Amino acid sequence: LSTTRTLTTAYSPTSDRTREIVAQTVSSIGSKREGQQYLKLFTTVSSQQFAVIKVGGAILRDHLDDPCRNLLFLFELGLCPVVVHGGGPQLNDLLEAAGVVPEFQDGIRVTDAKTLGIARKLFLEENLRLIDRLDSLGVATRAIQGASGATYLDKEKWQYVGKLTEVRKQAIENSISAGYIPILTSMAEGDDGCLLNVNTDVAAAELARTLKPLKVVYLSEKGGLFNGDGKKISQVNLDEEFDYLMAQPWCRYGTRLKIKEIKELLDDLPRSSSVAIIHPSDLQKELFTDSGAGTLIRRGDKIQK
Ligand code: ARG
Repeated sequence: LSTTRTLTTAYSPTSDRTREIVAQTVSSIGSKREGQQYLKLFTTVSSQQFAVIKVGGAILRDHLDDPCRNLLFLFELGLCPVVVHGGGPQLNDLLEAAGVVPEFQDGIRVTDAKTLGIARKLFLEENLRLIDRLDSLGVATRAIQGASGATYLDKEKWQYVGKLTEVRKQAIENSISAGYIPILTSMAEGDDGCLLNVNTDVAAAELARTLKPLKVVYLSEKGGLFNGDGKKISQVNLDEEFDYLMAQPWCRYGTRLKIKEIKELLDDLPRSSSVAIIHPSDLQKELFTDSGAGTLIRRGDKIQK
């Protein structure tokens, strides 16, 4: 299968082999009908507009196999998501080992030259680790660097921290049309040629604003958003529920910020786009069943099938 894939440039997601894989995997998590319906939905858009998937640093460190198996599954189905990853928690460990005291201003890491140097090296290593693992599973990938341009967020305050100003999507789109899953880190090129550190969630959102995918997936260890009783919220319908959510006493800090950011992002995307926050072991269930597994956030329309 992988040989055919390198020889051809286009997938045929409806081949017998593919149907067989969908049927097998999906019937273990939902029904065959659901699986095929969603596969059909995900292939109604161009292959470059299927999904942007953000993989957080903690997941790369602690659960590398989960996202890799997910990506293998999608790849086998002919679906090529754009992957963007960070390295957050590992960075703290490395900085500590190097005797750098992490400093934050308004929740954002102050990135001096030494921190940037360590972060750069770390991100490349993590990128390679992810790609190597995917290689061994037979998933074709391309590491893409320099796809995003940035300016300093506030040089005085945060030093080498970037604010994305552009996503050069050519390399990403070419990679997908050639059948390779593009793997990006969240670092961006500053207008003065310096690399700048960019928050991975922000980088994923900016990529999504440019590529306008059907799905924006945040792989998180928590596996979703939770309400005041600690129950996972299965779906958020922003048109109807945003104000209600913002008025809830439990909707604070990280959760509040996340919902606001996601609303802003979805406001810039087609109404058919949605955001999913899920644990990496639940991606298949989220994407290929009606009930999903994590938290699905959309603007309002009924999910089209
Ligand atoms: N599989 C569908 C999708 O990805 C529906 C998922 C529903 N998910 C949920 N957490 N309620 O669009």
